[in-house]
Amino acid sequence: MKPFPKKIVCIGAGYVGGPTMAVIADRCPEIEVTVVDLNADRIAAWNSAQLPVYEPGLAAVVGRARGRNLFFIGQGDGAKKMAEADLVFISVNTPTKTEGEGAGKASDLRYVESCAQFISEHARGHTIVVEKSTMPVRAADTIKRILAKNSHGGSFEVLSNPEFLAEGTAIRDLEAPDRVLIGGERPEPIEALASVYRRWVPAERIITTGLWSAELAKLAANAFLAQRVSSINALSALCEVTGAHVDEVARVVGSDSRIGPKFLKASVGFGGSCFKKDILSLVYLCEFHGVPEAAAYWQQVVDLNEWQKRRFADQIIRQLGAAKGKVAVLGLAFKKDTNDFRESAALDICRQLMAAGLEVVSYDPRVDFAEFCQSAGIARGMQPAHTVREALSGASAVAVLTEWEEFRSIDWASMSLVPNAVIYDGRNILDPEMIRRANLLLHSIGGRDSD
Ligand code: NAD
Ligand code: UDX
Repeated sequence: MKPFPKKIVCIGAGYVGGPTMAVIADRCPEIEVTVVDLNADRIAAWNSAQLPVYEPGLAAVVGRARGRNLFFIGQGDGAKKMAEADLVFISVNTPTKTEGEGAGKASDLRYVESCAQFISEHARGHTIVVEKSTMPVRAADTIKRILAKNSHGGSFEVLSNPEFLAEGTAIRDLEAPDRVLIGGERPEPIEALASVYRRWVPAERIITTGLWSAELAKLAANAFLAQRVSSINALSALCEVTGAHVDEVARVVGSDSRIGPKFLKASVGFGGSCFKKDILSLVYLCEFHGVPEAAAYWQQVVDLNEWQKRRFADQIIRQLGAAKGKVAVLGLAFKKDTNDFRESAALDICRQLMAAGLEVVSYDPRVDFAEFCQSAGIARGMQPAHTVREALSGASAVAVLTEWEEFRSIDWASMSLVPNAVIYDGRNILDPEMIRRANLLLHSIGGRDSD
């Protein structure tokens, strides 16, 4: 086995594969990194000035490495690259299954399986196959079974190297990660992958474990983070009826060094492509392996989140009542600094507002409005606005759903909302004093209503 990989292939040019490979190529100019994807449009976008993923700092990293030692190619050209690769990352989507055993909870491994099949058909010599996608524990068994069918006499090692980047901070997370996790069964392949990361990650931040612990640790990390958000959101409802303020409660709780301040920001509910699907995967694994009590515990994190989204939309619908009126939605992305709206709270909230017969106008600086409506199943009716000012014009209610920086400094007094319009701050980012001075009413999540 070559001690230091010279040629890397990554299957999947999505939010993880693209940025992760760009950073590896940037930090390891002597390694050739090729990213392969079935989606020709996505590959074309990675090769253009308009990258398919918006991430602060990404364009600069891609700009330095692309064409030098970073290449984005279609699946058709992937076979040759696969034959030369020392190390292959699988970074494809692992969504929740929609049919069959475990539908609605278990992870759908069909894309992973088709990657394993592709590797099995085209790899030559010795290849390290790395699970970069988030997988259920023991998924490597499935991959190994498929790889074993290789007819070129090739040999394989399978590692688990789950990704912990968060969208919006992906480049920072990749360049200076809290930890890199490598799970495997033998030291040599673990060392080969670790040698890549050690080019820029301090050795003490590279954690090695068994294969199954690495697979499960990724699901566990996301479950813990999401559980904190659901815990603070559960408290936000109690704060609203008792006069406590959730930000004050969070500050006190988070200042205990055993607890820490992060992931205690009350919100309209967590979104993103990972939290819900990964917790549901964990729930399924608990059920499958005969621990229903643990399954029920984790399921509650998701249920609370669904309730928080409904609760927020219900408050707006109740306020507007029979008068109906226009609601301005500010922010469609699941968090700031990304164009990603997968599982965004905005999807459910907009659908609910529309179903109640309200006129909805939305503004987001990065999200593609048509794609959002299609994904939300909103065929017509919801209107796009090109600026905050346009969105707010004539609005009776405003729902702030994403914490984009530009929303913090809105000059409310200069906007043309209807008198006594209510601003529903789903992220607690607005300045109550500025809203009050504009003669508007504020409802903060987990806070006291202004009057
Ligand atoms: P994505 O949907 O953005 O990208 C996946 C890509 O894989 C798509 O472009 C798709 O066309 C391609 N693909 C699917 N099957 C293929 C095949 N057989 N051959 C070639 N290409 C194929 O997904 P993502 O957000 O990048 O997530 C990928 C994995 O990483 C998931 O398992 C996810 O849970 C995990 N993850 C995601 C994040 C995140 O922030 N998005 C963070 C950590 C981990
Ligand atoms: C998450 C994990 O953080 C990351 O480690 C993993 O690799 C992928 O899943 P991501 O979904 O990109 O990353 O973003 P994250 O910052 O975790 O936010 C997830 C959701 O929780 C967002 O909707 C965010 O707004 C929400 N959130 C987060 C809160 O509502 N309150 C908080 O305090 C923190």
